[in-house]
Amino acid sequence: MDILKTIKERRTIHTFKQQEVDQALLKKIFMYGTYAPTHYMKEPWRVKIYQGKGKQDFVKAIIQSYQRIGIIKKDNDPKTAKLIASMTKFLLNIPHHALIYFEIEDDPIRYEEEYAAVCAFIQNTQLAAWEFGVGMLWTITPYMHDKEFLKDIELDYMKTKIAAVMQIGYPKKIPHVKERTPIEEKLTFIEK
Ligand SMILES: Cc1cc2nc3c(=O)[nH]c(=O)nc-3n(C[C@H](O)[C@H](O)[C@H](O)COP(=O)(O)O)c2cc1C
Repeated sequence: MDILKTIKERRTIHTFKQQEVDQALLKKIFMYGTYAPTHYMKEPWRVKIYQGKGKQDFVKAIIQSYQRIGIIKKDNDPKTAKLIASMTKFLLNIPHHALIYFEIEDDPIRYEEEYAAVCAFIQNTQLAAWEFGVGMLWTITPYMHDKEFLKDIELDYMKTKIAAVMQIGYPKKIPHVKERTPIEEKLTFIEK
């Protein structure tokens, strides 16, 4: 394993093969995530992985949320029905959806610490996944802020922050690298 190579070569994956990742492998991948730095050893990350038939209620809750938010209309137009059918199919075809969440801290500094640690957990997990040939798409979408959505998936919206939903599976297509801005343009050494 060459961690520097993995950091550079990992890509966000948008299309997945119709093949589940073995549960033991998923466990292993997320275990690597847990080696993320975490202040006070809080290890705030929590993960729910929706897969197989477990995706059905989750996807239904997403569609209902999109309708509440106004991303999808709430009418009897056949066009709306078609859109719902195609979005449902698209989401159900993704082998795994991993919802990453953590308990809300009232103190804003603690809250930032927890959120930062969860993001480090996510990136560690993505890198570990890449080592095993598994791809991920890190998503942040409006339904994560919809209280009713949290209720629908049985999370306490008063106490829970959803950090991300990771779409997971074996890559169908690996995109080309998106070149990064030279670090010299963003890095300053203050020496005096
Ligand atoms: C917090 C966060 C949220 C993201 N949300 C989305 C998203 O909703 N949809 C999407 O296509 N990509 C999303 N991405 C992935 C970025 O588009 C991707 O990392 C970027 O294009 C660089 O590509 P690479 O990861 O292959 O290097 C997100 C990334 C981060 C860090």
